[in-house]
Amino acid sequence: MTPLITVDHLDFIYPDGTPALFDINLQVGQQEFIALIGQNGSGKTTLSKCLNGLLKPTKGSVIVEGLDTRGRGIIKQLVTRVGYVFQNPDHQLFNRSVWDEIAYGPRNIGYSKEEVKERVEEAAHVAGVHADLFETHPYFLPKGLRQRVAIASILAMRPKTIIVDEPTTGQDMPQSVEVMNFLRRLWKEEGHTIIIITHEMRIVAQYAQRTVVLGQGRVLLDGTTREVFAQPEVLRQTYVEPPQITRLGQALSDYGLPRDALSVEEMKEAFREVVS
Ligand SMILES: Nc1ncnc2c1ncn2[C@@H]1O[C@H](COP(=O)(O)OP(=O)(O)OP(=O)(O)O)[C@@H](O)[C@H]1O
Ligand SMILES: [Mg+2]
Repeated sequence: MTPLITVDHLDFIYPDGTPALFDINLQVGQQEFIALIGQNGSGKTTLSKCLNGLLKPTKGSVIVEGLDTRGRGIIKQLVTRVGYVFQNPDHQLFNRSVWDEIAYGPRNIGYSKEEVKERVEEAAHVAGVHADLFETHPYFLPKGLRQRVAIASILAMRPKTIIVDEPTTGQDMPQSVEVMNFLRRLWKEEGHTIIIITHEMRIVAQYAQRTVVLGQGRVLLDGTTREVFAQPEVLRQTYVEPPQITRLGQALSDYGLPRDALSVEEMKEAFREVVS
């Protein structure tokens, strides 16, 4: 299958001269669930902004569904293909009502009134933003809901790929579970490709099929989440530690426990076999 996004030898240097990405090569396929991880400043946000054309490559290229992000006036076409939910949803919400917020993108593209209405209602429904809230100022919503409005405003553009920067930061456990299960539903049932950026390895183990690890602007590892967490020595270069359950298996591998377990259930199964 042709990939949705192809990143080829991408370098990115900020205008002030700060180098952020070096020789990134990456393909993003249809209906993938990817975690992008790595220490602070490793380039995760910069890379995601390159994927949606917000930042243009200094060298190399990013091709999104056949479109080169360096193309002039391409941004309108890109926003309907790759959606990016900011690290802090408050950096993204600037309209006076939830309705206007979700309608902003489709209106900007110039869709008809009916088309805008249809998209807003659909996006709000999928994101679980109830119609009762349409007139509310986003500012007055709790953080979890603000984030869902931010996601709804992205969904209204119907992009195949959705990048969510730090979906669970600053949220308590039930809110985190809710937003992650929502993203999983967009992936599984709605067929989107989801890319999450996170520092929470338990979330990565639980939700992501594939994990890409950045360290100092380079891809250190790219594989299934299981393969990636099985390489703690490489992860350490970017100050990432596998989830505790994986580390437990790695510490006890001499006793026959697996080095790549991702859940307590798996570990329990393996332990049963060891002691039987
Ligand atoms: N607007 C900017 N101008 C100059 N340098 C920047 C800018 N934004 C980020 N950088 C630098 O680019 C590098 C990559 O930063 P980036 O924000 O992409 O990392 P990150 O992995 O998202 O970090 P975090 O986990 O803290 O969000 C860092 O060295 C950072 O200081
Ligand atoms: Mg970041």
